[in-house]
Amino acid sequence: MRATGYDPVNTRLLKADRAGIAAAAQTLLAGGLAAFPTETVYGLGADATNAKAVARLYEAKGRPRFNPLIAHMAKSSEVHSIGILNEPALMLVRKFWPGPLTLVLPAAPNCAVCELARAGLSTVGVRVPEHPVANALLKSVGLPIVAPSANRSGHVSPTSAGHVMADLEGRIDIVLDGGATPLGLESTIVDCSSEKPRLLRPGAISRARLDSVLGYRMEDGNIAPEKPSAPGQLASHYAPRARLRLDVNKVEPEEWLLAFGIDLPEGADPARTLNLSRSGSLIEAAANLFAYLRELDARGAEVIAVTPIAGTGIGEAIRDRLARAAAAR
Ligand code: TXA
Ligand code: MG
Repeated sequence: MRATGYDPVNTRLLKADRAGIAAAAQTLLAGGLAAFPTETVYGLGADATNAKAVARLYEAKGRPRFNPLIAHMAKSSEVHSIGILNEPALMLVRKFWPGPLTLVLPAAPNCAVCELARAGLSTVGVRVPEHPVANALLKSVGLPIVAPSANRSGHVSPTSAGHVMADLEGRIDIVLDGGATPLGLESTIVDCSSEKPRLLRPGAISRARLDSVLGYRMEDGNIAPEKPSAPGQLASHYAPRARLRLDVNKVEPEEWLLAFGIDLPEGADPARTLNLSRSGSLIEAAANLFAYLRELDARGAEVIAVTPIAGTGIGEAIRDRLARAAAAR
């Protein structure tokens, strides 16, 4: 089990041939991290259905908070299983998929993309890439793969395997080298989670092309988690009904405890405790965080006491999420 921070791993740089793609698929299915080329930029892949793999991914990127990730799928026809497509979404799908367009959709019931990958949102970002390596990899894995751009947080998106190595060597398992990415610019993101689509991020497909397919000019929207202070945007994040009390070292009688590590604070009742990670692994804690907040609500907790969690590595994102949940009154 990983303790705080990350253990350096041996990053294999592999040619994106049949053997390389098979190795990357195996790594992803085993919960590992593999970077691969798409037509836009290199993505850092993880199994979207595996919260622990997704937690490792956030840590490898060094993201200070849990931004939602784009789920990549092999075929448009598979997307129904994770997201709900309305009429404008279908028009865009028919015209632009596979290709450099990401759609934000209401998550389907039983959406397999884990809640951590969606950052607790009720929506899911989806894209069907057209790059042959990305496509072969997705087909071979047979699961949705989340893939943010394969750079350290705050750095520019990588358009070559060398860029990925420079940023992430020692932090991820595999880099598939498929040469320079043809477009070199991220996908355009359109929010199709309500009746009228909105442009969230300009990108490889121009607004003019999208507007002409839709038959009207799209409004601009904001990418939710990048501007957390804007009103209405946090509202779509899952906020627990219960009140949160952070960094406690004494639990009050009526409180439930969200614990971390083996040492429980004074007053803790094991029957009213969920432990994010007994071994003190921040990766495990991140993987459990969203599910445990929901579980505590389901159990009728009114106040959740949370033990202190170190703000190092992915702990920063965990603390950020807890602070938001505590403030969401
Ligand atoms: O071209 C691309 O889109 C590349 C390649 C690898 O596919 N990926 C990429 O991912 O650029 P990333 O994580 O660097 O940027 C994705 C953006 C983030 O700003 C994230 O907040 C937004 O998409 N996003 C993802 N899901 C969302 C959702 N459900 N609601 C709002 N924004 C979302
Ligand atoms: Mg990025």
